[in-house]
Amino acid sequence: MKFKTAITQHIDEEVYIRGYRLLDLVGNLSFAQAVYLLLRGELPSERESKMLDAMLVSVIDHGVAPPSAIAARCVASGGNSLNVGVAAGILAFGFAHGGALEDAMRFLSGAVSGGVSPDRAVSEYFEKKLPIPGFGHKYYKDKDPRTERLFSVARELGVFSRHCEFALKVQDEIERQKGKRLVLNVDGAIAAIACDMGFDWRVGKGLFILGRVAGLVAHVYEELTQEKPFSKRLDEEDIEFVGTPKRELPGEFKRS
Ligand SMILES: CC(C)(COP(=O)(O)OP(=O)(O)OC[C@H]1O[C@@H](n2cnc3c(N)ncnc32)[C@H](O)[C@@H]1OP(=O)(O)O)[C@@H](O)C(=O)NCCC(=O)NCCS
Repeated sequence: MKFKTAITQHIDEEVYIRGYRLLDLVGNLSFAQAVYLLLRGELPSERESKMLDAMLVSVIDHGVAPPSAIAARCVASGGNSLNVGVAAGILAFGFAHGGALEDAMRFLSGAVSGGVSPDRAVSEYFEKKLPIPGFGHKYYKDKDPRTERLFSVARELGVFSRHCEFALKVQDEIERQKGKRLVLNVDGAIAAIACDMGFDWRVGKGLFILGRVAGLVAHVYEELTQEKPFSKRLDEEDIEFVGTPKRELPGEFKRS
């Protein structure tokens, strides 16, 4: 069986990534530039590399509260090594955590390429009673400051284009149709920018993973070096039992 790949090649004990000698990349490319090369197959322009860098930094960590950080630290606390804790954190990414980025890329790229109006794009979701990915936030009700910042960088770099504009129109359209503002959140903003940069929506969760893994490594490292094993557990007073109260096992099931 041939294992086909177009990413990396070994030739005479040298490694070539997308045709470029790895040793030439070392010391010349930033991490974001190398990531862009891996994912897109070509070197980024200066504005593309600055934009990708800003996107990765914007998701690098959100504290101990999100499911991925909790999972990573709990698993590490059970007595596992760094890679096991980080892997557990990655497994917590789903449609409600990181996945919205990919869903929003699919939504925005589909609507823009299909020539769907913001009005129709929103009403279709409302009719099906589905959450529109990339919009709404638990705490931010007027604007998401991370979106503001990323969009300002995107404008400065000249990356801000059709998908970002469409996302802002969707935000207005949601407010018009629902009578309530649901902010374009950071996942939606990164999604819109990634679409404007030409990224495929199917790599969306990958962009989130690439940024957040750094945060997960920091959390697991902190857990392993600053906390005692088994420290991530609940005390009885933190647990609300909502099941059947204690009862006797029926006599016919008792063997002794
Ligand atoms: C993030 C999220 C879970 C926050 O939900 P929330 O705290 O319940 O949001 P709110 O309390 O402001 O919701 C207000 C109303 O808007 C609705 N709503 C919230 N986000 C919505 C969305 N993206 N699309 C459609 N309706 C939405 C809620 O169902 C609620 O409707 P109701 O008043 O008719 O019951 C939610 O907005 C969501 O699922 N967004 C899409 C996924 C996403 O982008 N996640 C990444 C977050 S950074």
